Amino acid sequence: MRSTSMSQDLMDGLSNAQKSIPCRYYYDDLGSRLFEEQCKQPEYYLYRTEKKILERQSEKILKACSVETFVDLGCGNCEKTEMFLRTSISMMRYPLLNMIDINGLIVEEASQRLSQTLPTLNTVKLVGDYAATIPMHAHRIEPSLFFFLGSNIGNMTDDEILRFMNMCRTGMRDGDYILIGHDLDKDPALLTAAYNDKNGVAAKTNLNVLSNLNNQYAGNIDISAFRHEAAYYPEGFTMKSHLVALRDTMFTLPKLKLTVSVKAGERILTEIERKFPMGYLEQLLELANFKLVEEFHDDNAWFAVSLFRDVCRNDRTVSGASGLDG
Ligand SMILES: C[S@@+](CC[C@H](N)C(=O)[O-])C[C@H]1O[C@@H](n2cnc3c(N)ncnc32)[C@H](O)[C@@H]1O
Repeated sequence: MRSTSMSQDLMDGLSNAQKSIPCRYYYDDLGSRLFEEQCKQPEYYLYRTEKKILERQSEKILKACSVETFVDLGCGNCEKTEMFLRTSISMMRYPLLNMIDINGLIVEEASQRLSQTLPTLNTVKLVGDYAATIPMHAHRIEPSLFFFLGSNIGNMTDDEILRFMNMCRTGMRDGDYILIGHDLDKDPALLTAAYNDKNGVAAKTNLNVLSNLNNQYAGNIDISAFRHEAAYYPEGFTMKSHLVALRDTMFTLPKLKLTVSVKAGERILTEIERKFPMGYLEQLLELANFKLVEEFHDDNAWFAVSLFRDVCRNDRTVSGASGLDG
C-alpha cells in the first residue's frame, strides 16, 4: 500500500474541478497484464514500431555508448530490453540490468524469464515509484545506459518531464546515456484507433484504474457507472483518456478518508499520451542539459527512439516551466 503522502496527488486530482487520477494507477497486476494485451492489438502500432526500431538500431546504439550496465525505467515485461541485451551480452564483462517498475509481479516474472533466456545476465529488482527507486541506483561505478521506453515520457507535461530528467540525473554518473522511446504526431485516425481497439482492451485497461483504487483504498466505486473515452486534442498533440460518468455517482475511498461525487457526463482524466512533433523533445531536454546523440525513426516516422547524453553533471537544479508546451 502507498503511504498517504504518496497518494496526495490522487486526493488532489479527485478533489479538483477537473478530476484526474495519476496514470501510475493503470499498473496493478491486472493492469500490467492488460497493458501487455493492449500491445498485441493490431491498432496499437506503438509497441511493434518501437520494437522494430530497436531491432534495427540496437548495435549502433550500443557502439555509441559502450556501457556495462543497463537501467530500465518502467521496465514492464522487459521484452524490448531483452532483445537489446541479446545484442550486447557477449561484449560485456559483467552484464547487469537494473529493473525499475511500480508493479512487483511483472518485474518478478521478467526477472525469472531473463534468468532462463540470458543466464549470464545479473538482474537487480527495484520495485516502487521512480522517485523512490531511481536514487537507489546512484552507488554504482560502471557507465550505464538508461531505458525509458514504451512512450512512457508521453504521459508527462513539459514541467514533469524536466523534473523527471533531473530526478534521473540523481541515479546517473558522468557520461551516462538515456534512450527514450517517444511517439510522434501523425494522422489522428491512427491515434484514435490505437486507444480504442476493437477488442475493447484499451477500455478495460482504463476502467481497471477504478478497480485498482477500490482494491488499494477499500473503495466502493461502481465501475459500471463509467465508460472509457480516448480522443485526440490536436492543439496540444495529445491523446487523452478519460473515464466518463454515465450517471450521477458517488464513492468513498476509506483508506484516504475521501468521498467523491461525480455528475452524469463528468470526465475523470486518467492519462495523457503526448505525440511529439519532430524535434520537440530534443529542444525540451536541452533545457535539462541532456544532449541528443542520435534519433532513430521507423520508415513511416510514426515513432522515435532517441539517445541522449547527460552533459551537465554540476547543474542538478533544472526545473520549472519550459514554455514549449504553451
Ligand atoms: C507504458 S508501460 C512500458 C513498459 C515497457 N517499458 C515497454 O516499453 O513495453 C509503463 C511501465 O512503467 C511502469 N510505471 C508506471 N508508472 C510508474 C512509476 N511512477 N514508477 C515506476 N514505474 C512506473 C508501469 O508499471 C509499466 O510497466
